[in-house]
Amino acid sequence: EKGGYEHFMLKEIFEQPKSVHDTMRGRLLVEEGIIKMAGIFDHLERFNNAGRIIIIACGTSWHAGLIGEYLIEEFARVNVEVEYASEFRYRNPIITEKDVVIAISQSGETADTMAALKLAKEKGAFIYGICNVVDSSIARITDAGSYTHAGPEIGVASTKAFTAQLTVLSLIALKLGKHNGALSNSEFMSLITELDLLPKKIEEALQSTHDITKEIAKDFVETQNFLYLGRGYNFPSALEGALKLKEISYIHAEGYPAAEMKHGPIALIDENMPIVIIAPKKGHYDKLVSNVQEIKARKGKVIAVVNKGDQQVSAMADYVIEIPETSECFSPIIAAIPLQLLAYYIAVYRGANVDQPRNLAKSVTVE
Ligand code: M6R
Repeated sequence: EKGGYEHFMLKEIFEQPKSVHDTMRGRLLVEEGIIKMAGIFDHLERFNNAGRIIIIACGTSWHAGLIGEYLIEEFARVNVEVEYASEFRYRNPIITEKDVVIAISQSGETADTMAALKLAKEKGAFIYGICNVVDSSIARITDAGSYTHAGPEIGVASTKAFTAQLTVLSLIALKLGKHNGALSNSEFMSLITELDLLPKKIEEALQSTHDITKEIAKDFVETQNFLYLGRGYNFPSALEGALKLKEISYIHAEGYPAAEMKHGPIALIDENMPIVIIAPKKGHYDKLVSNVQEIKARKGKVIAVVNKGDQQVSAMADYVIEIPETSECFSPIIAAIPLQLLAYYIAVYRGANVDQPRNLAKSVTVE
């Protein structure tokens, strides 16, 4: 059932060209120039009149939510807040009947997310679900929703569910922007054309990063700390890369927006600190070049995730991982691939139980 792979996690990483494709199937109709999503279309008025959208989630799903904020604010120009479900529910949040609350959950059973949704529902908000497990508790309680069609995810570390969540959030952001006029038709068309290419680019990323991440991992088996840096859309990618490493390899890792480095974490950098930096061509590239210079001046070890043919960052980096280029807004979907693989191989070399890391459960049904 692992399809020849050593672990479910590796199988699920390699399934991503298909799972992202499945999540777009029947929704993204490039030739007709439309995105079909009944959950959004049937409630367009709710979305168009929403003063703001609040996204609630935990863990990896919360990271997807952060990227969702960038997507929805950029393309639909609607104000978005992203909250940890556990914090939201216990702080007497201000929720009005005009609010739209979106819960993101792979399992659809996470206790904190469920409780936060119930609270939002009681206050009259419109509640929307982005779940992977069909007919799960969250999917049932929500007013409407869009499933991610990633298929069953067995590995405790979320991989294909994450990229499927990003796919759904991209579709939602573009659809909302198209209907409320925030996106011009030509912008919409060029974005959906690029979105449609993602399964192929994920496949390319798997090919171009698999061997190299496996090699790089060998050098970090004994490492105790890691920093992950990114900016803009790839700041949450850095958080997610760090979480993947923590949960399966038990190495301490932190993700930061690259510009925050000088406000503290830079003090940690010396020749023993590996820093994974996500630096695709589109998206604050020049600023990331300076960040890499600052790291190298302190002898930090740079593992750079860059686009094919990159020169500036690659020239300074100790390790270079090349991924195909895409629009900045979709780059987290591609960048996720090598970050998952790197965490996976480091954990494997450390002899960790990758599919069932200690102390963790696939769905957290207690608070
Ligand atoms: O099922 P959910 O998406 O609601 O789960 C949320 C988190 O528990 C989950 O993403 C967790 O952080 C994963 N183990 C991350 O890989």
